[in-house]
Amino acid sequence: MKNRPKPYRVITDSEVEKYAEEHSTTESEVVTKLIHGSDEELDYIDMLSGPLVGNLLQILVQLSGAKNCLEIGTFTGYSAIKMAEVIPSGGRIDTIEMNIRYQKIAQENFQKFGFDDRIQLIKANAREEITKLNKIYDLIYLDADKLYYQHYYDHCIPILKSGGILIADNVLWSAQVLAPEDPKSQALDAFNKQLKIDNRVSHVLLPLRDGCTIVRKK
Ligand SMILES: C[S@@+](CC[C@H](N)C(=O)[O-])C[C@H]1O[C@@H](n2cnc3c(N)ncnc32)[C@H](O)[C@@H]1O
Repeated sequence: MKNRPKPYRVITDSEVEKYAEEHSTTESEVVTKLIHGSDEELDYIDMLSGPLVGNLLQILVQLSGAKNCLEIGTFTGYSAIKMAEVIPSGGRIDTIEMNIRYQKIAQENFQKFGFDDRIQLIKANAREEITKLNKIYDLIYLDADKLYYQHYYDHCIPILKSGGILIADNVLWSAQVLAPEDPKSQALDAFNKQLKIDNRVSHVLLPLRDGCTIVRKK
């Protein structure tokens, strides 16, 4: 699989991560096909959330019984399909993507693998789209546009039901938030610090893969 070389440190020892992946639920045939297809079509697929976060999303959807889910950042549709595989019948995933090439691949994947009844691809810039959504969601997965996590969070909390869950990925940004120097690390560190003092929610920052925060709205 083609991943870009990381110039900075990886949070979890790569052998530990590999062991954890191997001892977690095996990816379904559909998801395996999606990963291979994405890998063949694109130069890099390291934006894809991967099995640890993917399986975490599935467990959270299953434990919470979430029916209405929102995803910010579709890419080729991996995490949307992971959630759609386990949502209860009648459930729906709205997922927002602005890149035209990824929109096309994701839409094809949703159709080809039979998820277009459960997944709605919103072709838009999520930065604006998030200000217009007025549906209430049970679960929100935030996985795009790291500079604007606080903006997304501020608009997501009002449309998240009480008791609902928000998952924010990449919050450790390859551990660069520990000494943030570039704009993305600074934005993510500021987001983590702001979340710490938000008493509308309880949350945990897991050092899973690239850092994954799970938030529960009170
Ligand atoms: C990390 S990837 C998402 C990976 C996906 N959740 C998965 O697990 O396969 C982030 C995606 O967000 C998209 N994106 C970035 N900024 C965006 C924005 N402002 N609005 C909509 N999509 C955006 C990128 O094009 C990219 O496909």
